[in-house]
Amino acid sequence: MMQIDIFESAEKMAYEAAGKIIDLVSHKPNAVLCLAGGETPRLTYQCLTGEAKKRNIDFSSVQWVSLDEWVGIPPSNAGSCYHFLQQHLFNPLAVHPSNIHFFDAMAANVSTECEKMNAKIKQWQRLDLILVGIGMNGHIGFNEPGVDATLPAHVIELDSITQQVGQKYFTENTHLQKGITLGISQFIQAGMAILIAAGASKAGIIKKAVEEPVSKWVPASHIQAHANAWVMLDAAAAGALKINEKR
Ligand code: F6R
Repeated sequence: MMQIDIFESAEKMAYEAAGKIIDLVSHKPNAVLCLAGGETPRLTYQCLTGEAKKRNIDFSSVQWVSLDEWVGIPPSNAGSCYHFLQQHLFNPLAVHPSNIHFFDAMAANVSTECEKMNAKIKQWQRLDLILVGIGMNGHIGFNEPGVDATLPAHVIELDSITQQVGQKYFTENTHLQKGITLGISQFIQAGMAILIAAGASKAGIIKKAVEEPVSKWVPASHIQAHANAWVMLDAAAAGALKINEKR
């Protein structure tokens, strides 16, 4: 079941999203978490690390799984997903490197990276929680429009919108052609899925993802089929939804 929660501000949304992660880890200290990079979750991670410190929540046994990465971009590059998570989560929470399971997007054979990740997820049985943002083209992770939703982790040719929008993470123009990502099937099987979106620029694609039929052309729409999913929006991102018309 998918529940939609609309918050008056992005700050409130971030606080509530962080609260869900904190609650899970309080009950399951060895939870397997997969949390997205990108601009949207920045505030959520700030709340998460702040609350974790304040409430003394033990994250030392949590396993951290990579959602996606730009193929060919090293973790030292500030635009990489790894770098973002290191800065916003791993460093503030002093995560031990052995608990970090990320795609090596610099590997000579990135397909092997996918196989290794799929094997690990099988071994854990499932991800306990996955938190994603939504791309302007409806992608989650790097599951681009048209993706086969039955795929596990895979390497994918990036959509032209992703290649363009992705430039915002880099200080200089960067060649972004391929991505490595967990698949929709792994997203669907996660114990809990959270999709967060903030800002008016996401209103149109959010409407497509949650109010129109599930379609491979809007990969985020697969969240409608999730057994335990939360779509958390600020008022601007929820601006085009029908539920708003009733207010
Ligand atoms: C990043 C990721 C992407 C982003 C999406 C939204 O790890 O998986 O799917 O979540 O492109 O990005 P922002 O939050 O920057 O708008």
